[in-house]
Amino acid sequence: MFYKHLIPNAQRLSEGKALHFKVNQSEFVIIKQKGELRAYENRCPHQKRALNCYTEEIFDEDGDYIKCHHHGALFSPNDGQCIAGPCQGKNLKKATLGVEKGDFYILIGEGSPAVA
Ligand code: FES
Repeated sequence: MFYKHLIPNAQRLSEGKALHFKVNQSEFVIIKQKGELRAYENRCPHQKRALNCYTEEIFDEDGDYIKCHHHGALFSPNDGQCIAGPCQGKNLKKATLGVEKGDFYILIGEGSPAVA
């Protein structure tokens, strides 16, 4: 059983920015890059800590990669794969993001977030 968790203001997210939010006990981040929105669980595969580390910034200095601000791991915004850093080759957990009548939502499974 899944339910939709509405993400207010996702459609107004600016290019290169991120929205952070919490659903149940899990933190998520929605990013916008090259006009595409993607959602990931906000948890680095290296030490299972939040990527942003007390900052709202989620991208690296050039805006090309998602960056974990703890030890500098870089992740592809397209698929969440770590391309450099201490967890190279591992992936961020992607959340299922949908849109209905202009409103964005993520799908949450009963008892746990719908992440792949
Ligand atoms: S916790 Fe993310 S790189 Fe170490």
